[in-house]
Amino acid sequence: MASAGPLTHLRGLVLLLPWLLWLFQANILLSLLLPLKPISPDRVYNASSTIAYTVWLWIQTLFERLNGAVITVSGDALPQRESAVVVANHVTWSDFYMIQKVAVRAGMLGRCRWFAKVQLRYVPFLGWGLWAMGMPMVSRRWMRDRVELERVFSGIVRRRWPIWLISFSEATRFTRTKYAESQAFCAVNSRPQPQHLLYPRTKGFVTTVQHLRSTPHVRAVYDFTIAYQHGGEWHVAPSMWDTLSQRGLSSGAAGYRFHVHVRRFAMAELPRGDDDLAKWLEHRWVEKGVWLEGKRREWKGEGDLGKESRRAD
Ligand SMILES: *[C@@H]1O[C@H](CO)[C@@H](O)[C@H](O)[C@H]1NC(C)=O
Repeated sequence: MASAGPLTHLRGLVLLLPWLLWLFQANILLSLLLPLKPISPDRVYNASSTIAYTVWLWIQTLFERLNGAVITVSGDALPQRESAVVVANHVTWSDFYMIQKVAVRAGMLGRCRWFAKVQLRYVPFLGWGLWAMGMPMVSRRWMRDRVELERVFSGIVRRRWPIWLISFSEATRFTRTKYAESQAFCAVNSRPQPQHLLYPRTKGFVTTVQHLRSTPHVRAVYDFTIAYQHGGEWHVAPSMWDTLSQRGLSSGAAGYRFHVHVRRFAMAELPRGDDDLAKWLEHRWVEKGVWLEGKRREWKGEGDLGKESRRAD
């Protein structure tokens, strides 16, 4: 793999600049749509989905095609163009490429909506663009976020907008410190600590499912488990800049491995009560931990085999 020399940085700039220019224009377009929202909400939603599709597909193509990231996918096959609530574990910036990979296959890339920080709304163009698209912008204080969520949910429930409503249930990226905090929390509250993960925040998930389960077109909850490896090291992913600038990201035995494991659960089969739903998510996280540990061993085994065969050569 190319080392991160000046040429790599230059390569990153050359690849990124046209996309940034388009991103800027896309956000101006989206911002112009914002005042039209009350007049023609469905058209604005569709137009913003189309604009978002171009922006996201471009960056995804840069990552996969131009920079050679190979993303492998396992688990349940998803129906085409099905609306869903999507939950995933959060390792790093690259996670969004993993989710987009699955969204492209399911024909839902333009319909992806992510929970975003409310402060973004005040960032000219970029934030307004996200707002126009109908991104839920939350402060992670659920009482305060109620009004915002009602707004987002009403578009989905009343207007039947197709959507993948995506959230990272751990609310923050996985780090050693956060893991220790999660362990302490689970010990005090006698909750199971999932392996390789932080204990999930259940409130947002429960609120989302309770609102959306009444609408017939949101038929499922998707649970994505994201895993990485690099140079034989578990859960090491490239930095944001590396994903944009380095070529051959997945080439060679030491290249990055990107994997996403997909599970689909029919909305109708989820438990009814809030506490049971929270437990349901908790259970998913414990299972994800077991799956991740299996993946870690599998990759490690392959790495050891690789070393053996190189020794034998
Ligand atoms: C928006 O897109 C959906 C799905 O592609 C379509 O069924 C609907 O008619 C569109 N609405 C408008 C107002 O264009």
